[in-house]
Formats: sequence, C-alpha cells, structure tokens
Amino acid sequence: MQLPGTGFIWFNGQFVPWADAKVHVATHALHYGTAVFEGLRAYGTSRGPAIVGLNEHVERLFQSCTICELPITYTPKTVLDAITELVRRNEHDACYIRPLVYRGYGMLGVDPTHCPVEMAIATWPHGAHFGDESRAKGVKLGVSSWRRMAPDTHPARAKAAANYLNSALVIGEARRHGYDDGLALDVDGFVSEGSGNNIFLVMRGALHTPSAASSILAGITRGYVMRLARDRGLEVREERLPREMLYTAEEVFVTGTAAEVTPVTSIDGRRIGSGARGPITASLQSDYLDIVGGKAADRHGWLTFVRS
Ligand SMILES: Cc1ncc(COP(=O)(O)O)c(C=O)c1O
Repeated sequence: MQLPGTGFIWFNGQFVPWADAKVHVATHALHYGTAVFEGLRAYGTSRGPAIVGLNEHVERLFQSCTICELPITYTPKTVLDAITELVRRNEHDACYIRPLVYRGYGMLGVDPTHCPVEMAIATWPHGAHFGDESRAKGVKLGVSSWRRMAPDTHPARAKAAANYLNSALVIGEARRHGYDDGLALDVDGFVSEGSGNNIFLVMRGALHTPSAASSILAGITRGYVMRLARDRGLEVREERLPREMLYTAEEVFVTGTAAEVTPVTSIDGRRIGSGARGPITASLQSDYLDIVGGKAADRHGWLTFVRS
C-alpha cells in the first residue's frame, strides 16, 4: 500500500503533520517487537466515509494491550474519537486506518517497563488488498513450511507486532513460490490462518473455520461473515481442520479487513471446487460488501459515519 506522505497523524494525543510523526532509532518496540496494533477500514458511501467495526477493533486493541502488558494511557472513548476525527481531517473517501501502541524511547534492554507506552494512528487511501480482480477471480494459496506460533509461545489472539515476523515469513515464502499468500498450519498440523486473514471451507453446504485453539487472530471480519452466514440459515462450525480437508472442500475463501471476502481457487497448485468463485462465497461476499459499502441496510450496526 502506497503511503501518502501528507495529511495528519494522531501522535500521543496531538494531530501532527505526516512528516513530523517520527521516533528515535532506540525506540524499544523497534528492537524487541513490543507493540500492538489494529487495522481498520473506511469505505466510501453516499453518506461519506463509513468506518467498519470501529467498536470491535478498539476493543481488540485494548485486549491486545492487556495480553501484551502494554498499559495504554488513553481510554477507549479517546481512541474512538481520535480515529473518527482523523478520518474526517484527512478528508478520505475510503482508507485504511492503523492505530499502534508501542514501547517508546527510554532504556534499551529486554525489560520494557522503563520505556513509555506511546500511541499513534495513521490513515491512508486503500483499494482491494490482493488487487482489483481478486474479488471475482480469487487467489492462489500455498501451505507454508512456517507454522503459526504455538499457544505457549506468542499470543496469537493479540494483534502483536512481533507476531507479524511469522506472517512476513509466511507471505514471503508464498510469493517466492508464485502464490498470492501462504496458509499456516498450527503447531499440531491443523489449519490455522493466512498471513493476514482467516480461512473458511464450505463442505456439504456448511461453513467450517479453525477455532480459537488453532492459534488464529479472532478476526472481526470472520465474526461478521459467520453472522451473515447464520442470517442465511447456513450452519457454521468452529473446529480443528485437518489439512487434507482443504483439498476436498467445495469452496474456500479468506476473510479480513484488507482481504474482505476473497475466494480461494487453488491451494498448493490443486484446484478447489470448480476452480472459480463458488456460489456460497459469492453470496457472503456480496452481503458483506453491500453492507460495508452502504448499499444495503447496516442491520447489525457495523458502520460509523464520520460526517454527521
Ligand atoms: C494474522 C491475521 N489473521 C486474521 C486477520 C483478519 O482479521 P480482521 O478480520 O479483524 O481484519 C488479520 C488481519 O488483521 C491478521 O493479520
């Protein structure tokens, strides 16, 4: 994603010009990964930009801070207001929103407690994550040789910056092998998630997705899609999924704030289903995109409009 280099960044409580939001090279998080973050998206609608899942993302940010022992000094309300005001000030139509909480400059050593907890929020214009054609044509995945973190190593449920070294290795290997993204297995060899997305399998018309026990990030989009599926009367099961089920599923798709609902047409070079976007994927994708794009009623209260 191309960064704009202009507009404002919310930096420790102030709106500062993009170019002035700088940190020192001795910042603790840069050395030891002591940071958590969020990724939100605002879509352009006829009523102006609408932020998707604002409350859930801010709640997950605070949960990540708790898990990672980062005592954030702002209240959830301050963060909600800062995000909304920043999108308004930066005059975006559609954008990505990145809140970040991290250990700043103080002392360098693994113990972070002598470094201040700082916070920044940046926004930038954003289009389709895997490219404009991916919504219809789908993407190709490869199972990674890198496993997701074991549950007693890194907290996968926290959106911790340190977890993304694993994600970077997963996507780096996948791209080198010609795939759009990698798919990591958990420490026991069951399906976990992509480098930045959750995965769903359609089998006998029901949805199956890895449970919290498979080292996944509990995706906000994952929760929304499970809701949309149940609205349609589909059965949804969260469970451990053996790798081989990937190859026999009727349909596979991935979900995420950036990935939205993206069909998966092949895994490890093996065709999934018909090799094209399947009917259940297509219906959930349009249900999701219609709501976040303001074309269908926001019946679950997912949107926050920044202009009143
Ligand atoms: C590792 C990982 N899993 C899943 C997701 C999907 O989460 P969400 O739907 O909240 O964007 C993301 C995206 O942030 C991610 O980075």
